[in-house]
Amino acid sequence: MNKAKYIYSVIGTQEKILNGELIAFPTETVYGLGGNAFDPDAVKSIFSVKGRPPNDPLIVHVQSSQKARELLVLNEHQESIFNILSEKYWPGPLTIIAPAIDDIPSEVSSGSGWVGVRVPSHPVAQMFLRECNLPIAAPSANRFSHVSPTKPEHVMNDLKDHPIYILKNSHLKCDFGVESTIIKLEVEGDPLILRRGAISQFDLNQIIKLTRFEDKKTQFMAPGMMLKHYSPDGIDTIIADCDIPAEYLKNAGILDFGGLLKKYQNKVKWYFDLSKENNSFSACQLLYEKLREAEEKQIERLFLPKIKMCDLNSSNIQDTLADKFYRAASGKLITHTL
Ligand code: TXA
Ligand code: MG
Repeated sequence: MNKAKYIYSVIGTQEKILNGELIAFPTETVYGLGGNAFDPDAVKSIFSVKGRPPNDPLIVHVQSSQKARELLVLNEHQESIFNILSEKYWPGPLTIIAPAIDDIPSEVSSGSGWVGVRVPSHPVAQMFLRECNLPIAAPSANRFSHVSPTKPEHVMNDLKDHPIYILKNSHLKCDFGVESTIIKLEVEGDPLILRRGAISQFDLNQIIKLTRFEDKKTQFMAPGMMLKHYSPDGIDTIIADCDIPAEYLKNAGILDFGGLLKKYQNKVKWYFDLSKENNSFSACQLLYEKLREAEEKQIERLFLPKIKMCDLNSSNIQDTLADKFYRAASGKLITHTL
């Protein structure tokens, strides 16, 4: 018997959240597993339901930029960048990390004193946040290190043994299908992109100067930058950046992009091209659903193509797709593995 339950309306969610219960809800990126950000016990239960280590801080979701601002302590420099970003991208798939007010429990910030805030645009997320009228701490609603969920059924699959609620909406999709882009507002100097996501670096660079965390020698890493992430269960997932030997194609699947591995299409058990037209947005939208589908295909290996990082003059999210592929494969390349 599943302990997790579907609910079909936001009515009554405030009471549940105030009781310390957890509700998975859709956003325009992926499903989140939400609890009261001001309640340390609710936050602890998010970590335990997901099986997530406590040193991996949570993003707090609120319904408006003003509510987000109330959770932060910003200097003038940070404030000016916050205003530019929030005006342009909220509501939407951008997370801003900045110093937190004291009311944010250390469980949310993993003791860092910094908190990630985000104003989602998904209409159901907005209705839920307005109904609760509380900041909602929420990581993606998957089992730790598994593929993030873009459908309520994915959440049920991963978390059915826990007494959580899953807000089900059959009409509105998680449009982007990959997580928000994360930007850290440094105390001084350029803000840092900590995670590639639904908003391209090119677009962000149109309005502010940014540094990528790879370009800066820093001790600081978002734990979500850990290599193994978004991995399909029980399948050896590998990036193919050279020819795949015939014997390795037996019992294998391919999740392709722009036909890069099309020549193997008839040699594998399962083949799907995320976007024949090289459209990184549509590929990202399908990516997690197809990685989960691969788990049901009884394949031993899944090959993903090696994608070029997009040139930084174009407004696409090919670098996000390349990054997610790399993590799904835990960094394994065909040359290293076989
Ligand atoms: O699109 C999204 O961002 C989704 C939806 C549900 O909003 N949420 C999401 O949360 O992806 P999660 O927990 O799966 O990933 C958040 C990432 C983690 O890698 C975490 O380490 C990083 O953000 N993060 C959160 N707060 C942070 C902080 N204070 N300092 C550094 N990294 C932080
Ligand atoms: Mg996650």
